[in-house]
Amino acid sequence: MKGIVFSGVWTVIVTFFTIGSWMGKVGPRLAVGETNTLSSSQSRLQTVRQVLMEVPLIDGHNDLPWNIRNFVHNQLNGFDFDKDLRQIPPWSQSAWSQTDLLRLREGMVGGQFWVAYVPCESQYLNAVQLTLEQVDLIKRLIEKYSQHMQFAVSSREILQAHTKGRIASLIGVEGGHSLGSSLAVLRTLYQLGVRYLTLTHTCNTPWAKSSSVEQEDDGNGGGLTGFGKAVVREMNRLGMLIDLSHTARATMRDALRVSKAPLIFSHSSAFAVCNSTRNVPDDILQLLATNGGLVMVTFYNYFIKCGPDASVTDVAEHIYHIRNLIGVDYIGVGGDFDGINKTPRGLEDVSRYPELFAELLRSGKWDVVDLKKVAGLNLLRVLRQVEKVRDEMKSAGIRPSEEYIDSPDTTGNCALDINSVQRITEV
Ligand SMILES: *[C@@H]1O[C@H](CO)[C@@H](O)[C@H](O)[C@H]1NC(C)=O
Repeated sequence: MKGIVFSGVWTVIVTFFTIGSWMGKVGPRLAVGETNTLSSSQSRLQTVRQVLMEVPLIDGHNDLPWNIRNFVHNQLNGFDFDKDLRQIPPWSQSAWSQTDLLRLREGMVGGQFWVAYVPCESQYLNAVQLTLEQVDLIKRLIEKYSQHMQFAVSSREILQAHTKGRIASLIGVEGGHSLGSSLAVLRTLYQLGVRYLTLTHTCNTPWAKSSSVEQEDDGNGGGLTGFGKAVVREMNRLGMLIDLSHTARATMRDALRVSKAPLIFSHSSAFAVCNSTRNVPDDILQLLATNGGLVMVTFYNYFIKCGPDASVTDVAEHIYHIRNLIGVDYIGVGGDFDGINKTPRGLEDVSRYPELFAELLRSGKWDVVDLKKVAGLNLLRVLRQVEKVRDEMKSAGIRPSEEYIDSPDTTGNCALDINSVQRITEV
């Protein structure tokens, strides 16, 4: 049964490639016109599939690595990512599982930031070790499934992987607590291939404020300390994307002021449509456009409709709002699959991305070029610009930063041993 599903997916992939090489000769316009015999909904999906053949669909945020830690203690030998995980416990029983290779292929995902997330409870304790273990896990996963996945650390490598029909697989670290307030750790994570850092998760760090902690935001800074600004500048120098999802508004503003390169929100939506503090307010969206950055719209029902029920149409509403405000050049997607337990109708798992793009087409106001930008061209532009700033800073002879925090306040945490932290973090 699973073997049949698997070869079916390959047939579909091969068919896509055939269409792709044909598209290369005749261009996209003919493909849009030649669909009279199909229902309009099927025809839109066909257009979307052709778009995603040409341009990698790059998603900003997937939390599968944390689930692998939680469910199977990072043991990949017994983990069958190429099987239908909807049939295999504990995945089949979890509302948090929406990702496997079959469904990634069906969803035509061309690039994925896999998230090395560790909980805030490990801050000042073993956060750095746990982060290294998650980075190691992601690399072992890519290696085990190298027929389908290819490690990527640059805009060029994303395109190379896509050309080979493999999912370009990048690593993002979610939360500044993973640095242990050390720029040496930041540089080492870059060397390991990490290409974004979310400045905070749900806790403040000694140098950046989180949206989850009640803040007074007077619009005059206070989000990043001097060391926090040094982190941003060092990320510019390294060529690492700065991710502002989860950060406090004051942190967003400070980072946008300090950074020489465009910033991203790897998984956030529009505050004007649903007023969660995890979403981006209009004034910040405008600063983000000036900065040349990107908001990768996220799918969690509570950030889409501020409640338990949402649909793919509601996700599109966020995208329309952002487009009306700042234009199509600053929008991407960051589903947060495997990190959420309530997904919109029509966007239930990673197989469903084409439905979102078909929904945008249905509005009648979107063309193929717009879809390509949201799918991946915008992210590729941002990453290229980040790489350019890195190269310019290198040419200018800017040295690694030697700033440090003298003694971060770790009161009350140092007595815990690693085993007790494992218990805290694996609930
Ligand atoms: C969102 O809107 C609701 C209803 O107007 C309000 O009660 C709530 O405080 C708002 N939340 C935020 C974060 O602004």
